[in-house]
Amino acid sequence: MASVVEVQNVDKHFRLHKQRHKSLKDRVLHPGQGSFTDLHVLQDVSFNVGAGETVGVLGRNGSGKSTLLKCICGVLQPTSGQILVRGELAGLLELGAGFQPELSGRDNIYLSASMLGLSRRKVDGLIDEIVEFSELEKFIDSPVKFFSSGMYVRLGFAVAVTANPDVLVVDEVLAVGDERFQAKCMDRIRQFQADGRTILLVSHNADQVRALCDRAVVLEKGRLVADAPAGEAVRVFREHLLGGATVSKETNQIDGGVVIESMRGSNGSFMAQTGQRFEFEVTISSKLPVEGSFMMELYSQAGKLVVRTDPTQTPVSLSPGTQTLSVAIEDLPLMDGSYQVNLGIVSAEGNSVIAWREQIAALEVSYVGRGAGLVALRLNVH
Ligand SMILES: Nc1ncnc2c1ncn2[C@@H]1O[C@H](COP(=O)(O)OP(=O)(O)O)[C@@H](O)[C@H]1O
Ligand SMILES: [Mg+2]
Repeated sequence: MASVVEVQNVDKHFRLHKQRHKSLKDRVLHPGQGSFTDLHVLQDVSFNVGAGETVGVLGRNGSGKSTLLKCICGVLQPTSGQILVRGELAGLLELGAGFQPELSGRDNIYLSASMLGLSRRKVDGLIDEIVEFSELEKFIDSPVKFFSSGMYVRLGFAVAVTANPDVLVVDEVLAVGDERFQAKCMDRIRQFQADGRTILLVSHNADQVRALCDRAVVLEKGRLVADAPAGEAVRVFREHLLGGATVSKETNQIDGGVVIESMRGSNGSFMAQTGQRFEFEVTISSKLPVEGSFMMELYSQAGKLVVRTDPTQTPVSLSPGTQTLSVAIEDLPLMDGSYQVNLGIVSAEGNSVIAWREQIAALEVSYVGRGAGLVALRLNVH
């Protein structure tokens, strides 16, 4: 298979000015001394993307994913190494990248389409389709500085997909915006795949990577630690996320043997109330007896980790066959909102993943009271 994108031994350094306040005397006596910090953000990164492949990029915040995509899109130059791209590439980078705040949505469409190599004439023919896809008809002639982040994404995605590039590069942005629009973007991405085009996708949603990608690479502190089929890469990512354990043959054997089948609220729903007890049941099947720990993560609507429980506090013994764990959250300390639930069975020390389910449910928390904020703080005043 011919490579469409080749990343060869790429390094990227950022030089940061130290924020240290220097006195005038210091500046005169030691001009320029120690005034830079060197940030080594990408280290010897190499991988290829073949024609028609969809490749995911996984990694913790700050691991260098966006920097890598910017280098591939030509927005940043690698400090050393080489990047080759064959064909037309359209990048949907971090929010708002490439938009001019003072210009209208319409003018920004022309501007970003011209950066993708489309002539004004070509955009004239496509503009209705772009605006329609973005569903921003009413706002398209207002300056984009008044747009919400969701509106930025709509506009950027509409331009990028309508330009019909050979290679589409998408950075995380699909997590923004409402579910219906996300689903529409997903449909478009699947259509892209069916057309045999190439996609490079950063996502923090492991299920999305599993569902969409053929392969994924995992970045850890700027280094490529895995380049593997999507399911395998997700597992490596999870292990790094949890404690930096390396892939072992043993966990390989266990992986696939333990499956978190389902989660069910004991009251028949996922409705919970601030300050109340919330109980649920988790059905797990296991091929082997496993001594492990149960773990739960909650993410906010905005994709922020709200809590990851301490696995050392919740040991579980699984026996071969299907079993149900009963779990209770005491005095739910969250204010109202919808929280995505991830569940895991991890090794007893918590540093490798035995089974994982991403977004198994959405917990809907309602709050009656006059407090506000993110967490429910119970005060004892004497
Ligand atoms: N323009 C920049 N100047 C200086 N440091 C940067 C710049 N862009 C990113 N970084 C730093 O590089 C590291 C990787 O960032 P990034 O590529 O955005 O990671 P990710 O997308 O995986 O969260 C972070 O430590 C970030 O602070
Ligand atoms: Mg990023």
